[in-house]
Amino acid sequence: MSDADETERIPLHEGVGVNSPSMAARRWPMLLLGAVVGLISAAAIGGIVGKPLLGSAAIETTCGAVPTITHPPLVRRTLDATVRNVLVTGGAGFIASHFALALLDRGSYNVTIVDDLSRGSIDTVLRLQTLAKEKGRPLQWVHMDVARQDDMEELLRRNAIDAVVHFSGNAYVGESMTHPEDYYQNITVSTVAILRAMQRAKVTKLIFSSSCATFGNPTEFPITERSPQRPSNPYGTAKLQAEHAITHFLDAQKRLSLPFSAAMLRYFNVIGADPAGRLGPHLRHKANRDYPRLVDAAYDVAQGGMGRESLSVMGSTYPTPDGSAQRDYIHVTDLVEAHVMLLAALKGTDLMYYNVGNGSPYTVLEIVKGRESHRQEGAHQPEAVSAGRPSHPLQRPEQD
Ligand SMILES: NC(=O)c1ccc[n+]([C@@H]2O[C@H](COP(=O)([O-])OP(=O)(O)OC[C@H]3O[C@@H](n4cnc5c(N)ncnc54)[C@H](O)[C@@H]3O)[C@@H](O)[C@H]2O)c1
Repeated sequence: MSDADETERIPLHEGVGVNSPSMAARRWPMLLLGAVVGLISAAAIGGIVGKPLLGSAAIETTCGAVPTITHPPLVRRTLDATVRNVLVTGGAGFIASHFALALLDRGSYNVTIVDDLSRGSIDTVLRLQTLAKEKGRPLQWVHMDVARQDDMEELLRRNAIDAVVHFSGNAYVGESMTHPEDYYQNITVSTVAILRAMQRAKVTKLIFSSSCATFGNPTEFPITERSPQRPSNPYGTAKLQAEHAITHFLDAQKRLSLPFSAAMLRYFNVIGADPAGRLGPHLRHKANRDYPRLVDAAYDVAQGGMGRESLSVMGSTYPTPDGSAQRDYIHVTDLVEAHVMLLAALKGTDLMYYNVGNGSPYTVLEIVKGRESHRQEGAHQPEAVSAGRPSHPLQRPEQD
């Protein structure tokens, strides 16, 4: 897909992915889902299953494993060309920094990133600023807590923001079990503050990073947009509360005939880094050392960094081929592309929910073995296998 600054017609897949009857009555969000699905399958990471819905051939995205890929018919949709000024919350963090980079790569967006650096890295911000300068694109960095709604409102007005892409928040299931108050504050409350700031500044487009943790411990796979959301930990609950706040806010705006459109993307285990090495684990905040994600931990062991000498794999008795947990890993560059597409597609009073996953699961040990083939020669990296963590589904992804 080319830049979003020109109105264009692109081939999309026709698809369906809804999680409420009111959404089922609407057709065009389904077409956009097709765009996301098309993107993912085009990137050869598909995970789509065919199922009849609304009397037509339809598809669903999934966060779980699926046996077959069904390609739906191609349709076309005109994209919105008006989004230029984008505010990215949590822009010093892992996913949002890659999203900001994707916008810079497009060459047509003015990017503002807001981060309180609680978990984000100033090195990542500095790298983004250098890259923006090289590309001759503006990138404004604001060190701020997004819950400061008056300041957020002022920033939205000052930079004439067209759309907010809201990534910031705490993102660790285990931590949410010990500090739930931080999660309700920094996910639920912060999202409400952003909605208020947007309403006052008349910013009408929002993309929200939700999580498949909102589905809790599902009993049926694949997990689709229609699967019941029953979160099993404070992190997932706070994400679901934020989804509800956004949905109800949008409904209220609609009743007032005011435009407001939103998309909720629920992703599972985001992995990888910019293939060109412009961003990556080497730039991340040291605070994240205590809650490393798999690839970050593997990177640390390989580099002998962060004082990490070995990699612990949590759980060895899951009903998977090698006993380690099986997860749906999605590469960060594929994920951020879905966000870029949504930026161009959100219009009017759209409300969209998409589960964004790979659909082709890997076990933790499979990922670790991939790491072993690339590890630094001579690095000392014994592996320990321990019991699984509380509040995690037995077999399926680690819903962060
Ligand atoms: N990484 C995953 O696998 C995954 C999976 C599902 C959902 N998500 C969601 O995606 C989003 C980004 O995740 P990530 O992995 O990049 O996390 P991250 O910790 O790398 O980034 C989060 C960023 O938000 C910033 N932040 C936190 N609270 C803030 C506040 N009040 N004001 C301003 N900035 C604040 C942090 O400093 C950090 O830079 C999160 O909302 C997370 O819940 C991530």
